[in-house]
Amino acid sequence: MKKIMLVFGTRPEAIKMCPLVKELKNRKDFNTVVCVTGQHKQMLQQILEAFDVVPEYNLTIMKDKQTLFDVTINILERIKQVLEFEKPDIVLVHGDTSTTFVTALACFYLNIKVGHVEAGLRTNNIYSPFPEEFNRQGVGIIAQLNFAPTEWAKQNLLKENKNPESIFVTGNTVIDSLKTTIKKDYKNEYLNWANGSRLVLLTSHRRENLGQPMRNMFKAIRRVVEEFKDVKVIYPIHLNPAVRQIAHEVFDGEDRIKLIEPLDVLDFHNFMARSYLILTDSGGIQEEAPSLGVPVLVMRDTTERPEGVEAGTLKLVGTDEENVYREFKNLLINKEEYAKISKTSNPYGDGNACKRIADVLEEYFSKEEVN
Ligand code: UD1
Ligand code: UDP
Repeated sequence: MKKIMLVFGTRPEAIKMCPLVKELKNRKDFNTVVCVTGQHKQMLQQILEAFDVVPEYNLTIMKDKQTLFDVTINILERIKQVLEFEKPDIVLVHGDTSTTFVTALACFYLNIKVGHVEAGLRTNNIYSPFPEEFNRQGVGIIAQLNFAPTEWAKQNLLKENKNPESIFVTGNTVIDSLKTTIKKDYKNEYLNWANGSRLVLLTSHRRENLGQPMRNMFKAIRRVVEEFKDVKVIYPIHLNPAVRQIAHEVFDGEDRIKLIEPLDVLDFHNFMARSYLILTDSGGIQEEAPSLGVPVLVMRDTTERPEGVEAGTLKLVGTDEENVYREFKNLLINKEEYAKISKTSNPYGDGNACKRIADVLEEYFSKEEVN
């Protein structure tokens, strides 16, 4: 029986890997082991509980205000023992966080195979997003199997001369997650608060936006909310203290902007589905929104998810105050523009990505046994 270890550590990785854990645990040919690094603590726990996944290992590395050095050193040091003890046939990592890159590096040092879920996303600028673009390119050098969510991601890998036989277009597992969370009869007190207003959902956490860019984005949002009395904003703030400080500095005192704790994924997805508009610098939200038909203004200078921009649901607006102000306002007053970008599309898959990944792994190991 082949041993597959999944390693992840942050909220978005968990949202996208938990459905895969379940799929693999249901396959009789695999012994599936889960190791979380604990790069996130509370925000990771929320997701594990929502999907009912209990990891075999937790490296509990999170520190308040952790630096990239803290995360890298602590994962590298602690994961070595787990990998040496478990000796997995392959380790699956996800996307582009420090957990992802450092785990792949540890596997490389120990000569353990790596499968990269959500492979091939690129901006080709290692400083944007920082450090994620470097992380995913680094994992791309190491991985033996690449699970690309879209054809565009596959093409990026081919341009880097990756072996075509190592690349499989599977769709993004986030859509698998989304299929299980959206409820028709969903109710919540915060949604009651927003009832009768146009609800705008806000999230922000990118490292390169911390400081002045984030302050600029938030000031623009506050200006618009003060002008449009029928708009209410809900902002589940990331637990990073640097983000919280700026959010309170700019938004405190405006009653139509509600700052709340991070939401459970079930709540967040249902909030998204009921929003008029989403303002974010998140990656995962850019993948979820198109299939819900909710327009997104992406407060970043680059995106590795151009499919949603092409489908018309995402618009890149940067972090400049005047630009964010103008684009946000435009979607509130320009009905034609709003109608144009609130169309539902599914560029990121059909919700069967986990099944495809598990099938590829079965096939991969069955060939290995023959050889
Ligand atoms: C990390 C990832 C980023 C991903 C994001 C998802 C890296 C370098 N960054 O960024 O790619 O988009 O997660 O949210 O891998 N904190 C808590 N509790 C939690 C989570 C975070 O208190 O459950 C606080 C801690 O003070 C921590 C800080 O947030 O030090 C930053 O966490 P960290 O994982 O380093 O960075 P993120 O911005 O969350
Ligand atoms: N999300 C959540 N609760 C929240 C905010 C976001 O469950 O309060 C989910 C969201 O649906 C998406 C993921 O978290 O699936 C995005 O995570 P984040 O923005 O932290 O990271 P990124 O995707 O930018 O790496």
